[in-house]
Amino acid sequence: MDNQDLQQVAAEALAELESASDLPALTRWKGQWLGDKGKVRALIGNIRNLATDQRSAYGQAVNALKEQLEAALNEREAGLKQSALHHALASDTVDITLPGRPAEMGHMHVISRTIREVTSAFVQMGFQIWEGPEVEVDRYNFELLNIPAEHPARSMQDTFYISDQDKRGTGSLLLRTHTSPNQMRVMEQVKPPIRVVVPGRCYRAERTDATHEFYFYQMEALVVAEKVTLADLKGTLATFARLVFSPDAEVRFVCGYFSYVEPGVELMVRYTLPNGKRTNWLELLGAGMVHPNVLRNGGIDPDKYSGFAFGMGLERVALLKYGIDDIRHFYANDLRFLEQFG
Ligand code: DAH
Repeated sequence: MDNQDLQQVAAEALAELESASDLPALTRWKGQWLGDKGKVRALIGNIRNLATDQRSAYGQAVNALKEQLEAALNEREAGLKQSALHHALASDTVDITLPGRPAEMGHMHVISRTIREVTSAFVQMGFQIWEGPEVEVDRYNFELLNIPAEHPARSMQDTFYISDQDKRGTGSLLLRTHTSPNQMRVMEQVKPPIRVVVPGRCYRAERTDATHEFYFYQMEALVVAEKVTLADLKGTLATFARLVFSPDAEVRFVCGYFSYVEPGVELMVRYTLPNGKRTNWLELLGAGMVHPNVLRNGGIDPDKYSGFAFGMGLERVALLKYGIDDIRHFYANDLRFLEQFG
Protein backbone atom coordinates (compact mmCIF):
# COMPACT_ATOMS: atom_id res chain seq x y z
CA MET A 1 0.00 0.00 0.00
CA ASP A 2 1.58 3.23 -0.99
CA ASN A 3 0.64 6.86 -0.76
CA GLN A 4 -1.39 6.73 -3.86
CA ASP A 5 -3.46 3.87 -2.55
CA LEU A 6 -4.06 5.83 0.62
CA GLN A 7 -5.25 8.77 -1.39
CA GLN A 8 -7.71 6.55 -3.12
CA VAL A 9 -8.94 5.27 0.22
CA ALA A 10 -9.36 8.86 1.34
CA ALA A 11 -11.34 9.73 -1.77
CA GLU A 12 -13.60 6.75 -1.24
CA ALA A 13 -14.16 7.58 2.39
CA LEU A 14 -14.89 11.22 1.66
CA ALA A 15 -17.32 10.33 -1.11
CA GLU A 16 -19.22 8.07 1.28
CA LEU A 17 -19.18 10.75 3.90
CA GLU A 18 -20.65 13.16 1.42
CA SER A 19 -23.57 10.87 0.78
CA ALA A 20 -24.35 10.36 4.50
CA SER A 21 -27.38 12.57 4.63
CA ASP A 22 -28.34 12.47 8.28
CA LEU A 23 -26.82 12.03 11.71
CA PRO A 24 -27.50 8.24 12.00
CA ALA A 25 -25.82 7.68 8.62
CA LEU A 26 -22.90 9.70 9.90
CA THR A 27 -22.57 7.48 12.94
CA ARG A 28 -22.55 4.42 10.72
CA TRP A 29 -19.86 5.98 8.56
CA LYS A 30 -17.77 6.76 11.61
CA GLY A 31 -17.93 3.14 12.75
CA GLN A 32 -16.96 1.87 9.34
CA TRP A 33 -14.01 4.15 8.83
CA LEU A 34 -12.76 5.39 12.16
CA GLY A 35 -14.12 2.82 14.60
CA ASP A 36 -12.08 0.18 16.48
CA LYS A 37 -12.81 -2.33 13.73
CA GLY A 38 -12.87 0.29 11.03
CA LYS A 39 -10.86 0.48 7.84
CA VAL A 40 -8.34 3.05 9.07
CA ARG A 41 -7.51 0.86 12.03
CA ALA A 42 -6.93 -2.01 9.59
CA LEU A 43 -4.55 0.19 7.60
CA ILE A 44 -2.63 1.01 10.75
CA GLY A 45 -2.41 -2.71 11.46
CA ASN A 46 -0.71 -3.20 8.11
CA ILE A 47 2.44 -1.55 9.47
CA ARG A 48 3.49 -4.91 10.81
CA ASN A 49 3.79 -6.29 7.33
CA LEU A 50 6.12 -3.60 6.07
CA ALA A 51 9.88 -3.50 5.94
CA THR A 52 11.30 -1.55 8.85
CA ASP A 53 12.54 1.35 6.74
CA GLN A 54 9.09 1.91 5.24
CA ARG A 55 7.18 1.90 8.45
CA SER A 56 7.75 5.49 9.51
CA ALA A 57 6.65 7.02 6.23
CA TYR A 58 3.64 4.76 6.04
CA GLY A 59 2.70 5.42 9.63
CA GLN A 60 2.77 9.16 9.05
CA ALA A 61 0.70 8.84 5.91
CA VAL A 62 -1.97 6.74 7.61
CA ASN A 63 -2.06 9.15 10.54
CA ALA A 64 -2.54 12.03 8.15
CA LEU A 65 -5.37 10.10 6.52
CA LYS A 66 -6.96 9.50 9.88
CA GLU A 67 -6.76 13.15 10.82
CA GLN A 68 -8.12 14.17 7.46
CA LEU A 69 -11.13 11.89 7.88
CA GLU A 70 -11.75 13.04 11.43
CA ALA A 71 -11.68 16.65 10.35
CA ALA A 72 -14.05 15.90 7.48
CA LEU A 73 -16.37 14.06 9.86
CA ASN A 74 -16.49 16.98 12.26
CA GLU A 75 -17.21 19.38 9.50
CA ARG A 76 -19.92 17.21 8.02
CA GLU A 77 -21.48 16.68 11.44
CA ALA A 78 -21.58 20.40 12.13
CA GLY A 79 -23.13 20.98 8.71
CA LEU A 80 -25.84 18.37 9.25
CA LYS A 81 -26.66 19.70 12.70
CA GLN A 82 -26.95 23.16 11.31
CA SER A 83 -29.28 22.11 8.54
CA ALA A 84 -31.37 20.03 10.97
CA LEU A 85 -31.77 23.18 13.06
CA HIS A 86 -32.71 25.25 10.02
CA HIS A 87 -35.22 22.66 9.07
CA ALA A 88 -36.74 22.58 12.55
CA LEU A 89 -36.95 26.35 12.63
CA ALA A 90 -38.50 26.55 9.21
CA SER A 91 -41.15 23.94 9.95
CA ASP A 92 -41.90 25.46 13.33
CA THR A 93 -42.51 29.03 12.35
CA VAL A 94 -44.95 31.19 14.28
CA ASP A 95 -47.15 33.50 12.31
CA ILE A 96 -47.11 36.49 14.57
CA THR A 97 -49.77 38.19 12.47
CA LEU A 98 -52.44 35.60 13.42
CA PRO A 99 -54.93 36.85 16.01
CA GLY A 100 -54.32 35.35 19.47
CA ARG A 101 -56.62 32.94 21.27
CA PRO A 102 -58.72 35.09 23.56
CA ALA A 103 -58.34 34.31 27.26
CA GLU A 104 -61.66 33.18 28.69
CA MET A 105 -63.06 35.75 31.05
CA GLY A 106 -64.82 34.61 34.16
CA HIS A 107 -67.61 36.61 35.71
CA MET A 108 -69.35 37.05 38.97
CA HIS A 109 -71.41 34.13 40.29
CA VAL A 110 -75.13 34.75 39.97
CA ILE A 111 -75.53 34.68 43.77
CA SER A 112 -72.70 37.17 44.32
CA ARG A 113 -74.38 39.37 41.75
CA THR A 114 -77.73 39.04 43.50
CA ILE A 115 -76.13 39.94 46.83
CA ARG A 116 -74.70 43.09 45.27
CA GLU A 117 -77.97 44.03 43.61
CA VAL A 118 -80.03 43.50 46.74
CA THR A 119 -77.64 45.21 49.13
CA SER A 120 -77.16 48.15 46.80
CA ALA A 121 -80.94 48.64 46.65
CA PHE A 122 -80.84 49.02 50.43
CA VAL A 123 -77.77 51.23 50.33
CA GLN A 124 -79.79 53.53 48.08
CA MET A 125 -82.39 53.69 50.84
CA GLY A 126 -79.77 54.70 53.38
CA PHE A 127 -78.91 51.34 54.96
CA GLN A 128 -75.44 50.35 56.10
CA ILE A 129 -74.00 46.93 55.24
CA TRP A 130 -72.73 44.87 58.18
CA GLU A 131 -71.33 41.39 58.53
CA GLY A 132 -71.35 38.84 61.34
CA PRO A 133 -69.79 35.48 62.18
CA GLU A 134 -70.85 32.24 60.49
CA VAL A 135 -69.99 30.27 63.62
CA GLU A 136 -72.39 31.49 66.26
CA VAL A 137 -73.19 30.78 69.85
CA ASP A 138 -76.55 29.37 70.78
CA ARG A 139 -77.38 32.53 72.70
CA TYR A 140 -77.30 34.76 69.65
CA ASN A 141 -78.71 32.32 67.16
CA PHE A 142 -81.69 31.42 69.39
CA GLU A 143 -81.91 32.60 72.95
CA LEU A 144 -81.67 36.38 72.63
CA LEU A 145 -84.09 36.16 69.71
CA ASN A 146 -86.77 35.03 72.11
CA ILE A 147 -86.25 31.37 71.22
CA PRO A 148 -85.52 29.77 74.64
CA ALA A 149 -84.04 26.28 74.95
CA GLU A 150 -87.37 24.49 75.13
CA HIS A 151 -89.17 26.61 72.59
CA PRO A 152 -90.73 24.59 69.75
CA ALA A 153 -89.42 27.13 67.23
CA ARG A 154 -85.99 25.57 67.65
CA SER A 155 -87.12 22.39 66.05
CA MET A 156 -88.07 24.36 62.95
CA GLN A 157 -84.39 24.66 62.18
CA ASP A 158 -82.14 21.69 62.01
CA THR A 159 -78.85 22.94 63.24
CA PHE A 160 -75.22 21.95 62.64
CA TYR A 161 -73.76 21.98 66.14
CA ILE A 162 -69.99 22.38 66.48
CA SER A 163 -69.58 21.82 70.21
CA ASP A 164 -71.66 21.81 73.36
CA GLN A 165 -69.89 24.72 74.99
CA ASP A 166 -67.90 27.59 73.60
CA LYS A 167 -64.74 28.60 75.51
CA ARG A 168 -66.48 31.26 77.57
CA GLY A 169 -69.19 28.86 78.66
CA THR A 170 -71.94 30.71 76.85
CA GLY A 171 -73.55 27.62 75.40
CA SER A 172 -73.18 25.53 72.29
CA LEU A 173 -71.30 26.62 69.22
CA LEU A 174 -73.12 26.15 65.96
CA LEU A 175 -73.23 27.22 62.35
CA ARG A 176 -75.75 30.02 62.22
CA THR A 177 -79.07 28.86 60.84
CA HIS A 178 -80.10 32.36 59.82
CA THR A 179 -78.70 35.90 59.76
CA SER A 180 -81.05 37.01 62.54
CA PRO A 181 -78.39 36.79 65.32
CA ASN A 182 -76.93 39.89 63.71
CA GLN A 183 -79.92 41.89 64.96
CA MET A 184 -78.50 41.42 68.42
CA ARG A 185 -74.89 41.93 67.39
CA VAL A 186 -75.77 45.27 65.80
CA MET A 187 -77.90 46.48 68.73
CA GLU A 188 -75.03 45.68 71.07
CA GLN A 189 -72.73 47.95 69.14
CA VAL A 190 -74.76 50.94 68.02
CA LYS A 191 -77.51 53.10 69.43
CA PRO A 192 -80.68 53.94 67.47
CA PRO A 193 -81.32 55.13 64.87
CA ILE A 194 -80.22 51.84 63.34
CA ARG A 195 -80.60 51.00 59.68
CA VAL A 196 -78.51 48.02 58.59
CA VAL A 197 -78.56 45.04 56.27
CA VAL A 198 -76.40 42.00 57.00
CA PRO A 199 -75.87 39.53 54.17
CA GLY A 200 -74.16 36.23 54.88
CA ARG A 201 -74.06 32.49 54.54
CA CYS A 202 -76.21 30.27 56.73
CA TYR A 203 -76.29 26.52 57.27
CA ARG A 204 -78.95 23.94 58.02
CA ALA A 205 -78.61 20.21 58.42
CA GLU A 206 -81.22 19.56 55.79
CA ARG A 207 -81.78 17.06 53.08
CA THR A 208 -81.38 18.97 49.81
CA ASP A 209 -84.13 19.21 47.24
CA ALA A 210 -85.30 21.73 44.67
CA THR A 211 -86.04 24.32 47.35
CA HIS A 212 -83.52 23.42 50.10
CA GLU A 213 -79.76 23.57 50.24
CA PHE A 214 -77.74 22.87 53.37
CA TYR A 215 -76.07 26.23 52.96
CA PHE A 216 -77.52 29.38 51.50
CA TYR A 217 -77.33 33.13 51.79
CA GLN A 218 -79.68 35.32 53.72
CA MET A 219 -79.82 39.01 54.23
CA GLU A 220 -81.07 40.34 57.51
CA ALA A 221 -82.37 43.88 57.87
CA LEU A 222 -82.87 45.80 61.07
CA VAL A 223 -84.29 49.27 61.51
CA VAL A 224 -84.74 50.74 64.99
CA ALA A 225 -85.71 54.33 65.69
CA GLU A 226 -88.50 56.33 67.27
CA LYS A 227 -91.94 55.76 65.78
CA VAL A 228 -91.00 53.10 63.25
CA THR A 229 -94.18 51.38 62.08
CA LEU A 230 -95.37 48.48 59.98
CA ALA A 231 -96.05 50.99 57.21
CA ASP A 232 -92.32 51.80 57.10
CA LEU A 233 -91.60 48.09 56.75
CA LYS A 234 -94.05 47.75 53.91
CA GLY A 235 -92.82 50.87 52.13
CA THR A 236 -89.22 49.73 52.40
CA LEU A 237 -90.03 46.30 50.99
CA ALA A 238 -92.17 47.73 48.19
CA THR A 239 -89.28 49.97 47.17
CA PHE A 240 -86.93 47.00 47.28
CA ALA A 241 -89.26 44.91 45.10
CA ARG A 242 -89.52 47.68 42.53
CA LEU A 243 -85.75 48.16 42.41
CA VAL A 244 -84.82 44.48 42.21
CA PHE A 245 -87.76 42.69 40.51
CA SER A 246 -89.61 45.09 38.25
CA PRO A 247 -90.76 48.71 38.43
CA ASP A 248 -94.38 47.57 38.64
CA ALA A 249 -93.80 45.06 41.46
CA GLU A 250 -96.46 44.91 44.19
CA VAL A 251 -96.17 43.59 47.72
CA ARG A 252 -98.64 42.41 50.33
CA PHE A 253 -98.39 40.96 53.80
CA VAL A 254 -99.84 37.74 55.12
CA CYS A 255 -99.65 36.74 58.77
CA GLY A 256 -96.57 34.84 59.84
CA TYR A 257 -95.03 33.76 63.08
CA PHE A 258 -91.43 34.34 64.18
CA SER A 259 -90.74 34.56 67.88
CA TYR A 260 -88.52 37.64 67.52
CA VAL A 261 -91.14 39.84 65.87
CA GLU A 262 -94.65 40.89 66.84
CA PRO A 263 -96.61 41.10 64.69
CA GLY A 264 -94.85 38.75 62.29
CA VAL A 265 -95.59 38.73 58.58
CA GLU A 266 -94.63 37.05 55.39
CA LEU A 267 -94.16 39.20 52.35
CA MET A 268 -95.72 38.21 49.07
CA VAL A 269 -94.60 39.80 45.78
CA ARG A 270 -96.04 39.95 42.31
CA TYR A 271 -93.98 41.35 39.46
CA THR A 272 -93.26 41.18 35.76
CA LEU A 273 -90.65 38.69 34.55
CA PRO A 274 -88.08 39.69 31.91
CA ASN A 275 -90.22 37.84 29.33
CA GLY A 276 -93.13 40.17 30.07
CA LYS A 277 -95.21 37.65 32.02
CA ARG A 278 -96.84 38.74 35.27
CA THR A 279 -96.19 36.32 38.13
CA ASN A 280 -98.61 35.00 40.73
CA TRP A 281 -98.26 36.16 44.32
CA LEU A 282 -95.04 34.55 45.55
CA GLU A 283 -93.74 34.31 49.08
CA LEU A 284 -90.49 36.22 49.43
CA LEU A 285 -89.43 36.61 53.05
CA GLY A 286 -90.27 36.74 56.74
CA ALA A 287 -90.53 40.05 58.57
CA GLY A 288 -92.16 41.89 61.41
CA MET A 289 -91.93 44.49 64.12
CA VAL A 290 -89.04 43.69 66.47
CA HIS A 291 -90.37 42.01 69.60
CA PRO A 292 -90.01 44.17 72.76
CA ASN A 293 -88.07 41.35 74.43
CA VAL A 294 -85.56 41.39 71.62
CA LEU A 295 -85.14 45.17 71.85
CA ARG A 296 -84.63 44.81 75.58
CA ASN A 297 -82.07 42.03 75.05
CA GLY A 298 -80.26 44.48 72.79
CA GLY A 299 -80.24 47.15 75.48
CA ILE A 300 -82.90 49.27 73.77
CA ASP A 301 -85.96 50.68 75.57
CA PRO A 302 -89.08 49.35 73.78
CA ASP A 303 -91.18 52.17 75.23
CA LYS A 304 -89.06 54.71 73.44
CA TYR A 305 -88.04 52.90 70.28
CA SER A 306 -89.61 50.52 67.84
CA GLY A 307 -88.22 48.71 64.88
CA PHE A 308 -88.74 46.27 62.08
CA ALA A 309 -86.66 43.36 60.87
CA PHE A 310 -86.74 40.96 58.00
CA GLY A 311 -84.67 38.13 56.65
CA MET A 312 -84.65 37.19 53.01
CA GLY A 313 -83.19 34.16 51.32
CA LEU A 314 -80.92 35.47 48.58
CA GLU A 315 -81.06 32.30 46.49
CA ARG A 316 -84.80 32.67 46.64
CA VAL A 317 -84.52 36.20 45.26
CA ALA A 318 -82.44 34.86 42.35
CA LEU A 319 -84.81 31.92 41.78
CA LEU A 320 -87.77 34.26 41.53
CA LYS A 321 -86.04 36.97 39.58
CA TYR A 322 -84.67 34.67 36.88
CA GLY A 323 -87.40 32.04 36.93
CA ILE A 324 -85.03 29.21 37.98
CA ASP A 325 -86.66 25.98 39.15
CA ASP A 326 -84.05 24.35 41.39
CA ILE A 327 -81.88 25.93 44.10
CA ARG A 328 -79.24 23.19 43.67
CA HIS A 329 -78.20 24.67 40.31
CA PHE A 330 -76.48 27.53 42.09
CA TYR A 331 -73.79 25.41 43.70
CA ALA A 332 -73.50 22.52 41.24
CA ASN A 333 -70.71 24.36 39.36
CA ASP A 334 -72.16 23.52 35.97
CA LEU A 335 -70.83 26.16 33.59
CA ARG A 336 -73.78 25.70 31.23
CA PHE A 337 -75.94 27.09 34.01
CA LEU A 338 -73.55 29.68 35.41
CA GLU A 339 -72.56 31.19 32.06
CA GLN A 340 -76.11 32.40 31.50
CA PHE A 341 -75.58 35.04 34.16
CA GLY A 342 -72.46 36.75 32.77
N1 DAH B 1 -84.82 34.15 60.37
C1 DAH B 1 -85.94 33.78 59.54
C2 DAH B 1 -85.60 32.54 58.75
O1 DAH B 1 -84.50 32.12 58.75
C3 DAH B 1 -86.29 34.89 58.61
C4 DAH B 1 -86.85 36.08 59.36
C5 DAH B 1 -88.19 36.14 59.64
C6 DAH B 1 -86.03 37.11 59.72
C7 DAH B 1 -88.73 37.23 60.27
C8 DAH B 1 -86.55 38.22 60.39
C9 DAH B 1 -87.92 38.27 60.65
O2 DAH B 1 -85.80 39.24 60.75
O3 DAH B 1 -88.43 39.35 61.25
O4 DAH B 1 -86.47 32.00 58.11
